[in-house]
Amino acid sequence: MDTILKTYNLTRYFKNFTAVDNLNMTIEKGDIYGFLGENGAGKTTTIRMIMQLVKPSSGEIELFSQKSANSRYLLQKIGSIIEYPGFYPNLTAGENLEIHRRMMGIQGKNCIDEALKLVDIRDVKNKKVKEFSLGMKQRLGIARALLHHPEFLILDEPTNGLDPTGIKEIRELILELCHKQNITFLISSHILSEIQLMATKIGIIHRGSLLEEISYDELQKRNRHYINIKVNDDKKASFVLEEKLNIHDYIIWEKNNLRVYEKLQEISNINRILVSNNLSVEEICLKIDSLEDHFLRLTGGK
Ligand SMILES: Nc1ncnc2c1ncn2[C@@H]1O[C@H](COP(=O)(O)OP(=O)(O)OP(=O)(O)O)[C@@H](O)[C@H]1O
Ligand SMILES: [Mg+2]
Repeated sequence: MDTILKTYNLTRYFKNFTAVDNLNMTIEKGDIYGFLGENGAGKTTTIRMIMQLVKPSSGEIELFSQKSANSRYLLQKIGSIIEYPGFYPNLTAGENLEIHRRMMGIQGKNCIDEALKLVDIRDVKNKKVKEFSLGMKQRLGIARALLHHPEFLILDEPTNGLDPTGIKEIRELILELCHKQNITFLISSHILSEIQLMATKIGIIHRGSLLEEISYDELQKRNRHYINIKVNDDKKASFVLEEKLNIHDYIIWEKNNLRVYEKLQEISNINRILVSNNLSVEEICLKIDSLEDHFLRLTGGK
């Protein structure tokens, strides 16, 4: 399989602060790579290093199987939007793209209409950008990033500030560009539910470190099944689980809400023993961890 991006112990310090810490990530051709992390986790800094806008303190970046250091020509195969796309508000969408086309030295004006068509805003080519909604600006940003026919598109929080309809539209656009135009994506986000719906691979970054990199299929398989138990007294339930049922692989998830990860087939026996020890069991059922649970467990959040 063709590797589009590989980083080797990529690290960036700002004074004494480590924004990105020995990060090893791999993106294969055709991936929609969801780069997931909270605010300040190091997503934008990583993307800036990939785009050669920030110099790594140490480590290496390989793009299209070639070392990227000082190889600006490799960037010609990449399109990107980092944080918010900026435009000249008093110029039209077409004029904004024309400026970019000349700046990038792209031959022929056809690419402008092509890109606007790809993101489905060709009808507003002659409209001033100041009259655009946020969602339209995001689409225009993607059109601009597509102008030079990149193989790899990097979008830093592309759905920031969009309403649910806008988010869905951008998601569908990304999926379409991936499938029909064969474009590989790196998409950063702090919104799990969004990434979950489109990513083929997920990298979880937390305080600069990549905690996990996993294909979506693998994650689905690995997600743990558990017995969810709601009781009136979690301390007592915990005592009964350990002392009467010899269950130790469990957590108290919320007050009076426990998750048992072992002896799943003994659900009715667990219920019986809890009740016979004077606990009131409000709910007991088999469940599966969501990506959100997985993410929270990894990052130690609640
Ligand atoms: N130029 C800089 N100087 C000093 N610190 C910086 C600089 N750029 C980033 N940082 C710090 O590095 C850390 C990571 O920032 P980064 O912008 O990469 O996070 P992020 O994951 O993109 O967050 P967000 O979701 O808020 O966009 C933050 O603590 C930030 O304050
Ligand atoms: Mg950021």
